[in-house]
Amino acid sequence: MACKRGALIVLEGVDKAGKTTQCKKLVQALQQSGRPAEMMRFPDRTTTIGQLISAYLEKKSELEDHTVHLLFSANRWEMVPSMKKKLDQGITLVVDRYAFSGAAFTSAKPGFCLDWCMKPDVGLPKPDLVMFLQLSPSEAALRGQFGEERYETSVFQRAVQQKFEQLMKDPSVNWQVIDASQNIEGVHNSIMDHSLNAINTAQDQLLGELWK
Ligand code: TYD
Repeated sequence: MACKRGALIVLEGVDKAGKTTQCKKLVQALQQSGRPAEMMRFPDRTTTIGQLISAYLEKKSELEDHTVHLLFSANRWEMVPSMKKKLDQGITLVVDRYAFSGAAFTSAKPGFCLDWCMKPDVGLPKPDLVMFLQLSPSEAALRGQFGEERYETSVFQRAVQQKFEQLMKDPSVNWQVIDASQNIEGVHNSIMDHSLNAINTAQDQLLGELWK
């Protein structure tokens, strides 16, 4: 019998919500419980496309807004063959940001609508679970200053948060909102519960196509 497929699990949230810390903890906990798991992150700055994105984010280069949006999407599409292969091998993928960041960040720019921003990512592997780490702007501010990269301002982050809220109304995606104001272990426990459920459910289901 073919092995059961792994689950595609995504963490999203605004800056300072603790996504990266929680992704790492989740992968570690899953591995320790005997479940194969690997972490991925988008943008993946290691590829040729990822390097163009990274230079843009670090303000070392300028790119036209539609162009950079399509590069972020292409950076996900280029990873699809390896993602599918790993999922088929029974490996659960824990992904730090995905198409939801893509749509939320670009549509927070003037002149962009959410619908156009979602289009290039239609048909990507559909996550079995998307957890949104919720943190109010005032709580985020208590966690320190924003960094130096593009998009790291409180005004822009608030606009992004509103776009995420719109995306979360879509019932075709398995969204779970996690209260990121709890301590690290508390957040981790909620994330682990949802992830174990998703892994159990996903193993008997075909991988879906996002926003299709
Ligand atoms: P990331 O490398 O996760 O940085 P950080 O850990 O500081 O959040 O993301 C870099 C930035 O890119 C972040 O501001 C969100 C933005 N982004 C997009 O604009 N579009 C996308 O498709 C993705 C994945 C991220």
